[in-house]
Amino acid sequence: MESSKPQLIDIVKISDPRGNLSVLQYPSTLPFEPVRAYWIHDVPSGMMRHGHAFYSAQELIVALSGRIEVATESPDGSVKRFTLSRPDQALYVPPMTWRELDNFATNSAVLIVSDCLYDEMDYIRDKNVYNNLVNEETENND
Ligand code: TYD
Repeated sequence: MESSKPQLIDIVKISDPRGNLSVLQYPSTLPFEPVRAYWIHDVPSGMMRHGHAFYSAQELIVALSGRIEVATESPDGSVKRFTLSRPDQALYVPPMTWRELDNFATNSAVLIVSDCLYDEMDYIRDKNVYNNLVNEETENND
């Protein structure tokens, strides 16, 4: 897996007549050691979660039920939009990726697994700050 790009990851799904069981396990199928999990649910219709990026955190986003869309922007300026609607598929989001969650279907529940503890200092919540940071980085590398 190329860890610098947002990408969809298939989660192992074990099916039998009783239903499906999906599992992520570090290091075989989870690309980082999990430290924290949180979930977003009961999102009012039409609501968008504000976008942000992390300086160092990586995360996996899974729509456990329902459907959501995730817009991402990478430091090289590439933009992508992912639809998550399967509990056996996760979106990997690397550090320094701007991401926005929107278009929540009614009753969606979204699990987010992170490799670090909650730390507001790791958040970049202002898109202009993000743009300046990635532009500085690009100029330094030229
Ligand atoms: P926020 O970062 O705004 O949510 P989103 O990831 O959708 O942008 O988080 C909402 C509130 O929850 C904010 O006050 C911070 C708090 N919070 C925690 O206390 N711990 C956590 O692990 C997370 C993710 C958020």
